[in-house]
Amino acid sequence: MAPTLFYYLSFLTAIALVNAGLPSKIYGVNLGSWLVMESWILPDEWVRMGGDNCQNCSGTCIGSEFALAQKYPETVDQIFNQHWETWFNQPDVDQIKGAGLNTVRVPLGYWIVEPLVNRTTEFYPRGGILQLQRGLTHLRDAGISVILDHHALPGVASPNQMFAGRCTSDVQFYTPYNYHRALIWTAVMTALSHLDPAFGSVAAIEAINEPILDANKTPGYGDFQKNFVQVIRAVELTLGIPPVSGEVPPILASQVNVTSALSAAATLQNNFNPEVCRVLKDAVPIFAQVAQQLVLNTSLELGGLSSILQQRTALVTNFMDIGWQYNNPSNPADAAIGPQIYDNHLYYSYGGVADANEQAYLTSICNLKTIQTHAALGSSPLLIGEWSLGTQFNANASDVFMKQWADAQKLAYGKDAGWIFWNFKLENSTLTADLPRQWSYMEGLRRGYFTQDPSKFNDPYVCDAYINVTMTTTTATSGLTLLSDRRPQRLALILWLIGIGLWGSFPLYHYVSNPN
Ligand SMILES: *[C@@H]1O[C@H](CO)[C@@H](O)[C@H](O)[C@H]1NC(C)=O
Ligand SMILES: *[C@@H]1O[C@H](CO)[C@@H](O)[C@H](O)[C@H]1NC(C)=O
Ligand SMILES: *[C@@H]1O[C@H](CO)[C@@H](O)[C@H](O)[C@H]1NC(C)=O
Ligand SMILES: *[C@@H]1O[C@H](CO)[C@@H](O)[C@H](O)[C@H]1NC(C)=O
Ligand SMILES: *[C@@H]1O[C@H](CO)[C@@H](O)[C@H](O)[C@H]1NC(C)=O
Ligand SMILES: *[C@@H]1O[C@H](CO)[C@@H](O)[C@H](O)[C@H]1NC(C)=O
Ligand SMILES: *[C@@H]1O[C@H](CO)[C@@H](O)[C@H](O)[C@H]1NC(C)=O
Repeated sequence: MAPTLFYYLSFLTAIALVNAGLPSKIYGVNLGSWLVMESWILPDEWVRMGGDNCQNCSGTCIGSEFALAQKYPETVDQIFNQHWETWFNQPDVDQIKGAGLNTVRVPLGYWIVEPLVNRTTEFYPRGGILQLQRGLTHLRDAGISVILDHHALPGVASPNQMFAGRCTSDVQFYTPYNYHRALIWTAVMTALSHLDPAFGSVAAIEAINEPILDANKTPGYGDFQKNFVQVIRAVELTLGIPPVSGEVPPILASQVNVTSALSAAATLQNNFNPEVCRVLKDAVPIFAQVAQQLVLNTSLELGGLSSILQQRTALVTNFMDIGWQYNNPSNPADAAIGPQIYDNHLYYSYGGVADANEQAYLTSICNLKTIQTHAALGSSPLLIGEWSLGTQFNANASDVFMKQWADAQKLAYGKDAGWIFWNFKLENSTLTADLPRQWSYMEGLRRGYFTQDPSKFNDPYVCDAYINVTMTTTTATSGLTLLSDRRPQRLALILWLIGIGLWGSFPLYHYVSNPN
């Protein structure tokens, strides 16, 4: 009987490299608003591109990439190309490197794999994949590890969010058709990560950014998690990526190029489940098109790719952690085959986590239990893949406090796999006003909130006075309970609905995941 993928996997697990190509302690920034735009990060540029400065991106307002592409079908590719080239380029990589950071998380839309877009009903710019290839080359040359984050999914995975690509309440991601498209995206990105030398420092792929919090609204997500990992491992098996090279089925070993190898892998029904076989089959022509766009030589003949592939190690699979959802969520740990890492995002700025004052914030963060409680359920190593210095009392937050707030969060989030700040930078304009101070890593570094060496602190003892201190607060802060971390945003949305404008131009869209 042919060995099953599960067999390969138990083997892999036995020798799993915990973080594989990721640094053992991650210090990073998100490349937000590069290949998936959120206008609050660069409102001035967005308006110059032809967008609107929207209060609610869901209506007729041009507040998402989809809306902008639909409005300017003739010029959209040029408009975005200009943005992609200027928002993230070599000087940004130099700054990130100069700040001592070792990792970036790159939010991506499904539309970067262009053949996945149904252009009769879906509108997105073209050419992003070439910009990704360019940016990854800079990052590779700087030795910075990369997490490719599937941030904006086919069919839209989060209601009324610009970060979802299309701002709409019509959420269609959690359906077989769109899970399938996301898995094809995954197969293509896995192949590129191993085959295109520009992708040399890609170490991980994140399956989906911030799925809906209520697991009752994400049917099929548990199967998607398993298929996501199996697709990545199946592509790696097909390419002979160590450490599974000894196990390659004979039919794969004899293939002359990557497309023929993927086609052969799609027939291995004893090794892969039916959906994985369909994904591999459907990925073949799409991969071929993208490979042509990127001018990749996909020959597997000796002397070509094989020497590159021998140096590659298995990608790290990455999911939002078990605590992200409530209502009996599936556990991503059940999907693991080989190295896997978990992600959680924590923002205090929308209320509900701690009372809106400096003492309450520090008491909360210094006693944070999220990492331990989620790890106990299998979500380890745990990374905090998004956080900021945002507060509910922006203008009143003193510089002294901002240093403590940065230190205390870094202490908390650095306890396991590390952290990735949102965002690497913000536009400096009258429209962003004071936001860069709390949301731009580079601005925080310039102001001395962040230390020149990210593993260091302005005051490593910042938490000593707060640990085990009980605050009398109206909202539970210390010892956040499992699954509750993101509920505050639901409260924030309700507050927002009853009082739009209460918080001025705060970047609320990005973080409100579940309006119901
Ligand atoms: C934004 O507008 C959409 C449709 O126009 C509506 O369904 C939604 O509730 C609005 N969202 C907010 C937060 O006002
Ligand atoms: C694209 O969408 C249109 C409209 O929904 C549909 O009729 C068509 O079959 C779709 N094409 C593909 C290739 O899925
Ligand atoms: C890959 O190999 C197959 C079978 O030999 C061939 O038909 C196909 O044209 C090749 N594709 C590329 C991109 O070289
Ligand atoms: C692709 O690589 C193979 C193996 O090194 C080589 O024989 C072939 O000529 C290359 N093809 C192109 C178009 O460069
Ligand atoms: C800042 O403090 C002043 C005085 O206590 C208060 O009136 C104001 O609402 C505060 N602003 C914010 C954004 O918290
Ligand atoms: C942003 O603007 C402030 C105030 O004008 C200035 O001090 C700062 O240097 C600017 N930052 C960047 C990154 O341009
Ligand atoms: C805080 O309390 C926990 C549990 O009671 C205890 O294990 C820990 O040592 C205390 N830490 C400090 C700094 O007092």
